[in-house]
Amino acid sequence: DLHILSMKDFSKEMIDHILETAEKLEPIAVRKERSGMLAGKVLGVLFFEPSTRTRMSFETAMIRLGGEVLSMGSVDASSISKGETLADTIRVVQSYADAIILRHPKEGAARMASEFSQVPVINAGDGAGHHPTQTLLDLYTIKRESKLEGVKIALAGDMKYGRTVHSLCYALAHYGADITLVSPDELRMPYEIIKDLEARGVNVRQADSIDEAITEVDVLYVTRIQKERFPDPAEYLRVASSLQITPELLENAKSHLKIMHPLPRVNEIDPLVDSTSHACYFKQAFYGVPIRMALLALVMGGME
Ligand code: CP
Repeated sequence: DLHILSMKDFSKEMIDHILETAEKLEPIAVRKERSGMLAGKVLGVLFFEPSTRTRMSFETAMIRLGGEVLSMGSVDASSISKGETLADTIRVVQSYADAIILRHPKEGAARMASEFSQVPVINAGDGAGHHPTQTLLDLYTIKRESKLEGVKIALAGDMKYGRTVHSLCYALAHYGADITLVSPDELRMPYEIIKDLEARGVNVRQADSIDEAITEVDVLYVTRIQKERFPDPAEYLRVASSLQITPELLENAKSHLKIMHPLPRVNEIDPLVDSTSHACYFKQAFYGVPIRMALLALVMGGME
């Protein structure tokens, strides 16, 4: 089946094929051209949570491949506001579109939606669950800007609620990655996920501080502390400003260190870091276009 729901569903061969397809399509995105690969196809865009990059890079990808975009718009402007269910919404939109992109606050929403759809459903983030297309663009960024096989990577920030880092760790398991986790005690990665990663042969450890981790790694992946995921606002306030990457901190980093962040950032990365050779997060956001072009071409038959 052609749904894209979780990185756990992907073999290394499938990931490598997507990354190679994105490399072939990247020149179209760089030159801001259009191909006719998906001419006549329609992409249904359903976002029940805010987004800038995921929604706009999918829409850009579809337009660059010659297809059309059909957006539900905001929840308030749709019949969801009258109480329509996700299942009924999917039943309807799948009869209009050739593929559906779905972001939803509820974990498991995309998998459930796939059961009501005859066309591919692509998970654009389901609550604290998965965000597989983010992971694919993260892997693509590591491949293009650093090295993927055997990468030494530190993940810093919210390891508990961060769907992005959970998906990324499962994908990195295929590439012999050495993973260091840095987070406040309250936001440590769930123990079951660490055990699962170890069972898949990943070398994963917890560092006491970012200062300790930064000297060793090729890639530092920073995440936002996500206010919207905390059941208790007081818990959010306790950890909100626990992480900040500054130029001073980077003095002890390897010269080839790349800093990634799925964005949006709040205070985690000092804007003074943006002009250093380490900053990679805006390039990473751009790589969302070739990766999503590859996914759309693969699920809608533009490429094998
Ligand atoms: N990285 C990411 O998912 O960004 P958006 O929430 O803006 O889509």
